[in-house]
Amino acid sequence: MKILLLGSHGQLGWELQRSLSVLGEVVPLHRGSAPLCGDLSQPEALVQTVRSIRPDVIVNAAAHTAVDKAESEAELARLLNATTPGVLAQEAKALDALLVHYSTDYVFDGSGEAPRDEQAPTAPLSVYGKTKLEGEQLIQASGCRHLLFRTSWVYAARGGNFAKTMLRLAQEREQLSVINDQFGAPTGADLLADVTAHAIRHVAQHPQHLGLYHCVAAGETTWHAYAQYVIERARQLQPDLALKVQAVEPVPTSAFPTPAKRPHNSRLNTQKLQQNFGLQLPLWQQGVQRMLQEIL
Ligand SMILES: NC(=O)c1ccc[n+]([C@@H]2O[C@H](COP(=O)([O-])OP(=O)(O)OC[C@H]3O[C@@H](n4cnc5c(N)ncnc54)[C@H](OP(=O)(O)O)[C@@H]3O)[C@@H](O)[C@H]2O)c1
Repeated sequence: MKILLLGSHGQLGWELQRSLSVLGEVVPLHRGSAPLCGDLSQPEALVQTVRSIRPDVIVNAAAHTAVDKAESEAELARLLNATTPGVLAQEAKALDALLVHYSTDYVFDGSGEAPRDEQAPTAPLSVYGKTKLEGEQLIQASGCRHLLFRTSWVYAARGGNFAKTMLRLAQEREQLSVINDQFGAPTGADLLADVTAHAIRHVAQHPQHLGLYHCVAAGETTWHAYAQYVIERARQLQPDLALKVQAVEPVPTSAFPTPAKRPHNSRLNTQKLQQNFGLQLPLWQQGVQRMLQEIL
């Protein structure tokens, strides 16, 4: 099996290099790759890449993920998150290749408290959410064989993320203020990558299970409780760490105005994924603790 992996230097892309390696030959490309093009802002060149590699599977882990910046560069966000994934889907269709792509809890408006399943109505609040949803729709409309995974609050040992920011701030400041009215599940890029590899193998035998899935770690938390967990765990794992922080104050979203609106309820129902693929998703704390052990 030949797998073209786009976005190989991102949090998820890096983990996919590991997890996909047991399935076959992986061709990892990133934005700066040469001579093959791995740049999503150049769809024509990307098409040439796909046609020259003729992959059995295209895994796209690249995206415009800067949620606030997307508000002021909507055209670029649309190109990277929607137009080019749509072009990749056309190419996958022409080659009869499987396309694997990732989306987000930001396709929802975050109202209510219940976890949303894959059938729940979408209503994105931000340019990022809108363009990610358009990407989903273009892939679905192309008729290519696809796996679409919506996930949330992604972290990894490599790359920047919320947990690492909290650890840094906890070393610099005595008091932190963290949002406590957004609910979701921190999800490890390693978990997402492992589920992806499993799903690619599974759909080869069970094509009826292609389609859209919610994929997040089990359990739920707020950014505030997540920050507290990270700091407490860091204290236990590394007692010598010079943590200045004395208090983590819970604050509402309105305390930190941002260009992009975020959903309050990012809970995703993962039953379909667990049932169709015969998988059990671990509690979010398990992966966060592992990441902390790795970076501390
Ligand atoms: N991070 C989250 O919390 C989160 C939540 C829900 C869903 N997701 C989705 O999960 C997927 C993986 O996200 P992630 O967390 O791994 O994000 P990430 O670490 O930000 O990685 C995204 C990658 O895309 C690359 N990229 C940006 N512009 C590009 C371009 N023009 N051409 C090629 N590559 C380009 C970035 O490259 P550079 O490093 O060179 O910028 C980066 O390596 C994405 O589809 C994202 O929308 C993420």
